[in-house]
Amino acid sequence: MVKNIAVIEGDGIGAEIIGEAVKVLRKIEEKFGHTFHLKYVEMGGCAIDRYGVPLPAFSLEACQEADAVLLGAVGGPKWDDPTAKVRPEQGLLGLRAGLGCFANIRPAKVYTPLAAASPLKEEMIGGGFELVVVRELTGGIYFGESGRDGDSAYDTERYSVPEITRIAKVAFELARGRKKIVHSIDKANVLESSRLWRETVARTAREYPDITVIDMLVDNAAMQLVRNPAQFDVLLTSNLFGDILSDEASQITGSIGMLASASTGEGSRGLYEPIHGSAPDLAGRNIANPIAAILSAAMMLDLSFGMREEAYAVERAVDAALDENLRTADIATEGGTVLGTVQMGGEIVSRI
Ligand code: IPM
Ligand code: MG
Repeated sequence: MVKNIAVIEGDGIGAEIIGEAVKVLRKIEEKFGHTFHLKYVEMGGCAIDRYGVPLPAFSLEACQEADAVLLGAVGGPKWDDPTAKVRPEQGLLGLRAGLGCFANIRPAKVYTPLAAASPLKEEMIGGGFELVVVRELTGGIYFGESGRDGDSAYDTERYSVPEITRIAKVAFELARGRKKIVHSIDKANVLESSRLWRETVARTAREYPDITVIDMLVDNAAMQLVRNPAQFDVLLTSNLFGDILSDEASQITGSIGMLASASTGEGSRGLYEPIHGSAPDLAGRNIANPIAAILSAAMMLDLSFGMREEAYAVERAVDAALDENLRTADIATEGGTVLGTVQMGGEIVSRI
């Protein structure tokens, strides 16, 4: 197959981790006889420096023309001034909306060789867990009306029935191939938008009689995640709640540097990015963990290109490297060999 991929390195460690993901893609081309045309696209702080905006129109167009977008990370202290009119994060939100990627899929799993890195006690992990957050990505408070009014400021949470219905369907479809349980997260005891969320999820669920839906308040969900994460399989959330809970879920796996994500919309085009940020303190030091970026590339192969076998080959290579005690500094465990970014990437490539 021939596929066009827009590649956004972004800021901080972005270029380093994407470099390793690209090495993996080259190996997949060679092994499976595919051709990937890569087009490097500027977005984030680096685009602010060059063009004054985080997502220039030509960058968005290049992404819209591609079959998939692979993204490193954006942002950094240089652009963090709270009074700034332009911010790297606006580029990310503009890209998600501009691609119509309303469904953000964030798997969080404990890798057995890394279980010791989880901050939770072993009995709490319950023999490992593998959950996935399905986060609404192009609505809610991130995109609602906001502003300043005298000495006050406001942001608005607004959801429509169609927006809730389409993300609920993504969660239910995903649950069908898994444990058939969806926890729908809201704050329906306080928020009107959450009451609409709960109602709409229940109505949509009637089309999925094989799926069990459990409504859970977000504060309780935050607590349950550290108390008994193994009870969850698919978590369905709004944009803001999913942002918060996916960070929490990733941290309890003990390895935020390992977790990938996919954002998809109506068609097969998707946006693939690690769940972690640009880690400016690690940038340029060859110590960042490239695995989240590599696994994001694997999700792209699977979900946008239908290359299940190829994706599996990448996932297996990552597992093999971990089983052989190869580590980056962030996931160092006793007896492990700590490698740099480039070396870890190379070890994974050689196992494909
Ligand atoms: C994420 C990030 C972004 C978000 C920021 C950088 C805008 O935290 O992808 O989780 O809040 O969506
Ligand atoms: Mg976040």
